[in-house]
Amino acid sequence: MAGRISATVIQQILDRVNLVELIGQEVKLRRTGRNWTGLCPFHTDGKPSFSVNAERGFYYCFGCHEGGNAVSYLMKGRGLRYVDAIETLSRLVGIELEFEEGDRKAFDRAREHLRQLFDVNLEAHGYFRSQLFTPAGRRALDYLDGRGLSREMLSRFQVGFCPSGSTLYDRLVARGAPLNLASEVGLIVQSRRNNQYVDRLGSRVIFPVLTVGEDVAGFSGRTLPDGPDPKYLNSPDSEVFRKGELLFGLVPAREQMKKRDHCLLVEGQLDVIALHQAGFENAVASLGTAVTEHQAAIIRRFTNKVVIMFDGDEAGRKAAWRTMTILMKQGLYGGVVRMPEGEDPDSMLQTKGAEALKAAIDGARPFLEYAVETLTGRAGGDLHGRTLAAKEGMAFAGEIGNPIDRQLFLERLAGELGLSPEALKVEAVSRRSFGAPEEVLNQPQVAGDFPPRERELVAFVFRKPELVRMVCQDEAFELIETEQVRSFFLKLLDEIEEFGRVEPHGFVARLDNPGLKDICGELLLQDDLMPDATVEKAVAQMLAAMSRSGIRQRQQAVRKEVRRAEARGDLDEAFALSEQVDALERELAGSASAQN
Ligand code: UTP
Ligand code: MN
Repeated sequence: MAGRISATVIQQILDRVNLVELIGQEVKLRRTGRNWTGLCPFHTDGKPSFSVNAERGFYYCFGCHEGGNAVSYLMKGRGLRYVDAIETLSRLVGIELEFEEGDRKAFDRAREHLRQLFDVNLEAHGYFRSQLFTPAGRRALDYLDGRGLSREMLSRFQVGFCPSGSTLYDRLVARGAPLNLASEVGLIVQSRRNNQYVDRLGSRVIFPVLTVGEDVAGFSGRTLPDGPDPKYLNSPDSEVFRKGELLFGLVPAREQMKKRDHCLLVEGQLDVIALHQAGFENAVASLGTAVTEHQAAIIRRFTNKVVIMFDGDEAGRKAAWRTMTILMKQGLYGGVVRMPEGEDPDSMLQTKGAEALKAAIDGARPFLEYAVETLTGRAGGDLHGRTLAAKEGMAFAGEIGNPIDRQLFLERLAGELGLSPEALKVEAVSRRSFGAPEEVLNQPQVAGDFPPRERELVAFVFRKPELVRMVCQDEAFELIETEQVRSFFLKLLDEIEEFGRVEPHGFVARLDNPGLKDICGELLLQDDLMPDATVEKAVAQMLAAMSRSGIRQRQQAVRKEVRRAEARGDLDEAFALSEQVDALERELAGSASAQN
């Protein structure tokens, strides 16, 4: 395991990095007052939403809510791992890295280990590629020919073949390759029968899966007709192969994803290759699963628009729904192609041709329309079906970040289901107040949705996070209307209790709620020199004001009761209630004088 780099050294490095210079290498930045602004490198930005504050070493985008420091910039922007980002920065500012435990050697060993894993994959890959064009690979090549894949595509996607038995193993031995590593990345496995090594992907067509940095992360092996199950066998998860962080076809597709400013997302490797061959060179595939947030973030580096084209079967439609939801949550938009039943992009190209596929892509239903249509289609005519659809629609609405979109979606769905929009909204509210804090916090909500005083409270407490203790202990805490805001404070409290302090940049980066991110991100961009005592006083006053308005509300309610009791002629009750009104009045007066 790598030695840990000491936190003080990381701080020294971060203190010395000029973030404007670093980001300025890739993004054109203009000075605007204290900050520098430009087009956001993390999403397709129409206007300059991206701000960098050099003094604070912090950047933030008001469009996609991405924010952080130099380390996170290198990790997200250039796809570096944490240690690599630190190392790059240390070189930039000329600080030797020190390690807390262990030593430089441990660090180097960890990096070397990773390199060797990639190398053994590369070695194997060279072998697989050569085998496709030998007599052993004959059947595989015939199969690929039979599926209509051109030689050019086989070469572009670096397709190979792994013969049966243990020929790769023999080759690795002959080359002196580290067998423990070959086994770690799942190239070879020990057979249970006689402990001999065999090739894990034997008798399979090999599709390599590359990282953005074009390292061979792993392989997907397709069986031949009458070959062993399962149809596809992937490399097992390892330090270099993390399924949820890879996209098949990204390297050949990324140029066109940028140029055409959208990407085609499909399920299968063969779909990708067939699409590229037919001229759709912006196609990529998640590896046989619904897309992950990580994969969505990778896509967003090249484009913001995704056309989902999954198989025309129940599994494909389910995966498309989940994928659409995750993409929207990550701020991507796009459409879903309704594939004819039983077809996938590859088969559709074969049977109907590129023109028909192009038409299908052009006819992709925009995410929100697709959602409305799918939900109403599923609802059918009866009441129960409509209720279920409404429920599902509400869950989906919670994922829509843009409030106007959310509103339009709700109205359309309500209209189609024959419900009043209010009915859906009531449902939305109750869902929110019953969610677990974490879950609720993750529901996107924009800044404008928070009551102004709650927004202000967040902003002030974030200036001096220790104040969160005071907030959570105060009776006014229960009066905070927005569940997300309450969860925000609880999360802050957790962090303080656990670590004794809050690292604000990291905390903002981990927030999922765009509205809260904006409030805090904005603060981090300002050089806010409000004295601690002032902040503390302001927070105390806000809490008191909230308590007072809570009391006033209670008073209002009791007054109503009084009038009702009077109307009923129940004078005893009216009298008792009036006493309560007075008591609340005294409470109000007391808290007001305490303030002054
Ligand atoms: P499909 O079963 O739709 O395969 O699975 P496909 O791409 O249409 O198959 P062929 O090769 O064209 O006949 C779609 C994707 O799901 C993953 C693979 O990534 C596959 O491309 N998958 C499928 C697996 O990982 N394992 C399996 O056993 C099957
Ligand atoms: Mn398929």
